[in-house]
Amino acid sequence: MIRKIPVRLTTGTDRSYNIIIGNNILGNLGKALKALNCGTSVFIITDNNVARLYLKIIVSSLKKAGFADTGKIILPAGEERKNSGTFLRILNALYDFDRNQQKKIVILTLGGGVVGDLGGFVAASYRRGINYIQIPTTLLGLVDCGLGGKTGFNFRKAKNLIGAFWQPRLVYMDTLVIKTLPLRELRCGLAETIKYGVIKDKNLFSFLENNISGLLKRKSLLLNKIIPICIKIKAKITSADERDDKDIRIILNYGHTLGHALEAATNYRKFNHGEAVGIGMVLAAKLAVKLGLIQAKDAGRIESLIFAAGLPVSVKGIPENKILASMRRDKKFISGVNRFVLPAGIGRVVVTENIPESMIRKVLSERR
Ligand SMILES: NC(=O)c1ccc[n+]([C@@H]2O[C@H](COP(=O)([O-])OP(=O)(O)OC[C@H]3O[C@@H](n4cnc5c(N)ncnc54)[C@H](O)[C@@H]3O)[C@@H](O)[C@H]2O)c1
Repeated sequence: MIRKIPVRLTTGTDRSYNIIIGNNILGNLGKALKALNCGTSVFIITDNNVARLYLKIIVSSLKKAGFADTGKIILPAGEERKNSGTFLRILNALYDFDRNQQKKIVILTLGGGVVGDLGGFVAASYRRGINYIQIPTTLLGLVDCGLGGKTGFNFRKAKNLIGAFWQPRLVYMDTLVIKTLPLRELRCGLAETIKYGVIKDKNLFSFLENNISGLLKRKSLLLNKIIPICIKIKAKITSADERDDKDIRIILNYGHTLGHALEAATNYRKFNHGEAVGIGMVLAAKLAVKLGLIQAKDAGRIESLIFAAGLPVSVKGIPENKILASMRRDKKFISGVNRFVLPAGIGRVVVTENIPESMIRKVLSERR
């Protein structure tokens, strides 16, 4: 079954777009692109792992649909490459593909969040903005980074510091891609599904608690149940706060303040994004207990679920000062005052400012 989920942006209906989701639908991508009529020359941005698995089917579906002019760049995979060097490399390849002919180019980002964020920002920047289609291939991409229009890359020690809001014209999701995901990446995607449970949906959270082992076995019945729930939560939130300036979208950052700090403090090499977010969610829950926002037993449920998903829950071996230095570069902080999204129960979060650094240090030291 193919489903269409609309993302209707309240502040810019012309930027609204659809998510198409189905199983084994990559071969129909060309047709869907044709129907969209948003470009005649197609430039694919992907990474080496994904290219090996899915590039052929995408290219042949484009050919079948009549797209004669296609180009591509295959990047080495990895968060540590989500940087200005890779951004420029893609721009150079795109410029060569364009050959100064002012082609009507549409970009396809085929891959996980690294490819999606970088490729989306290339689309936002090239000739002041061209069309792009997101084709997420990780669970994390399907439930989170494939939609919402946040694009960009890491700059020095600051996660996602350079970027833009640039909405895709379509998000094309084939859940079959989950079959080939390494287990570690599956766990990372589950971290974001747990996030949705904590921030908005206690029933989803209980469902995850009851079914985590089946989800780790990739049971499609279970995955097909949770993926649309997560997409709808993200679609609703990002529709209402496209540019993250209305204090609505911020709740998607639960676990991300210390999560991003952990990624940056370890040069984007030690943790995958979902793993860092998992630890960040545990740490934020502990802060919430100390602030009296959540009962210890609910914070315990959050930690247990993250642990059951096979995600790390410790910051052992990472110097506290490094984590705090990276944390201070968080984009949510205003004039140096920290801001955290903290759970106030399962299914509800609050934004809390100015948490004493001594308390953050205490929570970090208890996680060693
Ligand atoms: N824009 C947003 O709203 C948003 C939201 C959340 C996260 N992000 C960003 O997303 C990134 C994390 O994304 P990610 O977890 O997808 O990581 P990723 O893009 O690094 O992909 C993870 C790994 O899985 C491989 N892979 C991808 N699809 C595969 C498949 N189907 N089969 C086998 N291997 C596959 C990739 O080659 C890579 O090695 C971070 O940079 C994060 O900041 C962005």
